[in-house]
Amino acid sequence: MGNKVRLCSTDEVVDGEPFAVEIEGLPALAVYDVEGDYFVTDNLCTHGNALLTDGYQEGDEIECPFHGGAFSIKTGEPSAFPCQVAIKTYPAIVENGEVFIETD
Ligand code: FES
Repeated sequence: MGNKVRLCSTDEVVDGEPFAVEIEGLPALAVYDVEGDYFVTDNLCTHGNALLTDGYQEGDEIECPFHGGAFSIKTGEPSAFPCQVAIKTYPAIVENGEVFIETD
């Protein structure tokens, strides 16, 4: 049975401006609003030491601030070179204006 962890309020996340969340015991996370739906991924690029929340959200894609790589926010799959390894995604749970994920 997982543990539900609160990441942020939905007000803190704006479409096009992913929100960085640091919670002890969890990897750095990024929360996204894509047309009113919320998504959560690891924040660290799989290509290098860059935080995706410093990059550029374009619809359901996040472009890394370094090297022009990109990922699908919804699936975590790399969508632009040089990113080749998917980022981890977490199902976002939205309740009463707050965003949660389940952890192991
Ligand atoms: S560090 Fe993200 S594309 Fe290189």
